[in-house]
Amino acid sequence: MSILEDLSELKNTAQVEIAQAASEQDVTELWTKIFGRKNGQLTAILRSVKELPKEERPKVGQAANEVKETIEQSFEKRRGELYQESLQKRLNSEQVDVTLPGRWAEPGRIHLLSSTMRRIKDIFKGLGYSVMQGPEIETDYYNFEALNIPANHPSRDMWDSFFLREGLLMRSQTSSNQIHVMESQEPPVRVICPGKCYRRDAVDATHFWEFHQVEGLLVDEKVTFADLRGTLELFAKAMFGSRRKTRFNPSYFPFTEPSAEVMVDCFVCDGKGCRVCKNSGWIEIMGSGMVHPKVLKGVGYDPERYTGFAFGMGVERIAMLSCNVDDIRLFYEDDLRFLRQF
Ligand code: PHE
Repeated sequence: MSILEDLSELKNTAQVEIAQAASEQDVTELWTKIFGRKNGQLTAILRSVKELPKEERPKVGQAANEVKETIEQSFEKRRGELYQESLQKRLNSEQVDVTLPGRWAEPGRIHLLSSTMRRIKDIFKGLGYSVMQGPEIETDYYNFEALNIPANHPSRDMWDSFFLREGLLMRSQTSSNQIHVMESQEPPVRVICPGKCYRRDAVDATHFWEFHQVEGLLVDEKVTFADLRGTLELFAKAMFGSRRKTRFNPSYFPFTEPSAEVMVDCFVCDGKGCRVCKNSGWIEIMGSGMVHPKVLKGVGYDPERYTGFAFGMGVERIAMLSCNVDDIRLFYEDDLRFLRQF
């Protein structure tokens, strides 16, 4: 067979094969098969041109070049077709149906207890109080003894506690933090201590074995009951509205003397009497009092020089009152129908 025949055969088969190439990879393989430096079919033919007699070379060379160009064009055409095909496939598979309804990402929100806690903290931070936290597992000393509640004292009845082994218990009031704070610093003290408390109470609409308190403590020279009143009146107005009135009822806590219950006029009925205030027109929002001199002495403060006041409020109670929640258990049930309302 002459070289010219070889060339024309290669031209024909190459074009058929190229047209059949189904992928970019097929095309590359074919390219190597034809144009490969070592074993390419056309490369081999071109090499053999050198062996021809001189006068035949230009003619054959020209024919070879033509074949080469034709094949190259076929390759280019096929590559273009394959690219269009794969592009079309991708466009089809990645199509976005803009008429489909969107997927809704449900945003989370702050739990009512947390937001109530934040509001309380913000009010006292605005008054220059710092925020501290103490342990939830306490010794008898911090939860009772140092707060002037000796062992076997009948007032221990006020706190039904969960006792652990070896004199430890789950704290039943954040008042334990009064002692931690005073032990760790000298007056002046101005601090609030938010945290969880635990009590062995029977569970009902207003009692749960786990709940939150915010304790407040201020100790300095010349602190009087008037300071306590002013501070807590301001708090009540900031928390429940500027129209609220406050009242201080005598009360008893072993670690404060005198002690007082802080009452606000009912913000549901404006003091007229309703279910929330049990027809009294007043709602108790926290316990408070002047820090007992024995407590000050116990932490090494001089009660002749320093006086102070303390208060403690239940966060669940405040949240229930301000948002009209009628069952404390709702806070712990994680029922979205409840949580979504706040
Ligand atoms: N710790 C008291 C309680 O749990 C509340 C309180 C705190 C009272 C500080 C007076 C002063 O009921």
